[in-house]
Amino acid sequence: MGSSSEGSRRIAIVGFGYIGTCIGAVLADRGFVVTGIDPRPEVEQEIAKGATSIHEPGLKDLVAKGVAAGRLKATTSYDAVREADVVLVTVGTPLGADHAPDMAQILSASEQVAKRLRRGQLVMYKSTVPPGTTEDVVRPLLEKQGLRSGVDFFLAFCPERLAEGRAIVEFLSLPIVVGGAEPESTRAAAEFWREALDVRVLELSTARAAEMSKLADNLFIDLNVALANEIAMLCDRMGMDAMEVIEAANTLPKGTHHVNILVPGAGVGGYCLTKDPWFVHWLGQRHGLDLRTPVASRSVNDGMPAYTAAAVRDELAQHGRALKGARVAILGIAFKSNTGDVRFTPAGGTIHALRQAGADVVVCDPWVSARDAKAVTDAPLVASLDDALRGADAVVVLAGHTEFRTFPTPRLAELAKPGALVLDGRAMYTKLQIAEMRKLGLRFRGIGR
Ligand SMILES: NC(=O)c1ccc[n+]([C@@H]2O[C@H](COP(=O)([O-])OP(=O)(O)OC[C@H]3O[C@@H](n4cnc5c(N)ncnc54)[C@H](O)[C@@H]3O)[C@@H](O)[C@H]2O)c1
Repeated sequence: MGSSSEGSRRIAIVGFGYIGTCIGAVLADRGFVVTGIDPRPEVEQEIAKGATSIHEPGLKDLVAKGVAAGRLKATTSYDAVREADVVLVTVGTPLGADHAPDMAQILSASEQVAKRLRRGQLVMYKSTVPPGTTEDVVRPLLEKQGLRSGVDFFLAFCPERLAEGRAIVEFLSLPIVVGGAEPESTRAAAEFWREALDVRVLELSTARAAEMSKLADNLFIDLNVALANEIAMLCDRMGMDAMEVIEAANTLPKGTHHVNILVPGAGVGGYCLTKDPWFVHWLGQRHGLDLRTPVASRSVNDGMPAYTAAAVRDELAQHGRALKGARVAILGIAFKSNTGDVRFTPAGGTIHALRQAGADVVVCDPWVSARDAKAVTDAPLVASLDDALRGADAVVVLAGHTEFRTFPTPRLAELAKPGALVLDGRAMYTKLQIAEMRKLGLRFRGIGR
């Protein structure tokens, strides 16, 4: 793209956190003039320098490029909404009391947008919200000044479905789901995304169907991981390799696809999967249903950190070593491999349980800043993997970062204590690596292997 922004369409992104910044940087790269709006002054300051503290592969370069080209900026003022052709809302929707969605950011952002709404604008919400939010909560707020949705302006919901660590690639390739407050809004939103990203767009009949589709996706993922985790626990007890079992099970064609059991692991974290199933449960209650699947998925996955810590304890005990006083090297505290995001990371629970039992824990995560690590645990954080592994009785992988996966096994065996336990909480090691570890005198254990 050239550096001229003259004649380009203007986009205001309300809520310039993780999702807002990823989308904003990509759209700036696609030639739009993007202004991120966020009440946190540090966002404006960082972006002004062409920088971002959000860890996402490729994001820093895109931000620097967009700012240098004059197509990307951030501000604390909502006035950019007035000049925008398209307004995207990407504020947070955290878990509130009784597992209800906390809608405070959606409401305050919508009030601000409403005051500056102009004829002809397209307003799209991307934050994960309960069905009915766009039509029943947002539309009346935006129409307060007399403009009508579907006539004077267009209002739609387009769920954000990208996954951290692959956000840029996925934003540019995933099909986009849109549901307008009226058919005219659906068409306007679909046209925008087709033109902006040249991707497949699914036009749903209502905004609430689009809102529900996002919750259905995340309930499916959380429940599927819970299924994998319970299969893994059973395989642990019965002495089978759950990965082998799952791989074989997944070859069965079912419906239009195959069985697709996901990977068992030391817990589910992050901003979305830890809350969205609860939103579904809360919705069920509001409609007189006692839905069981969100409770099952959340309780199974929330139990995995304790399960992981108990596995370390039991494996050490089987070889005559006590967890109390044992040196445990934790590799990775990010909730997801190859990201630095520690929001709601299950690693915190595992580390806490190990330390409660008297383990001497040391943490290494090259992707996570010291400040973010502090929010997870006050166990010592070491920068060098060698230092973490030196003298370890147990090495516990809680994030499958590339640095860990490619670390030479002989070096690991040399640094850790003879006969040390390697517990892979992320199914990171290949069969070959596991065999090599065993040959070198290390003991290997996974979740379900
Ligand atoms: N993180 C993900 O991987 C992901 C994936 C899909 C969907 N989502 C959904 O997208 C939404 C945003 O998630 P996120 O991870 O970017 O959250 P985030 O907390 O990183 O970003 C939200 C931003 O909104 C800002 N904000 C708060 N109130 C505001 C207001 N009134 N006006 C303007 N800005 C305001 C905050 O300061 C923050 O920077 C959530 O609903 C989430 O469920 C997230």
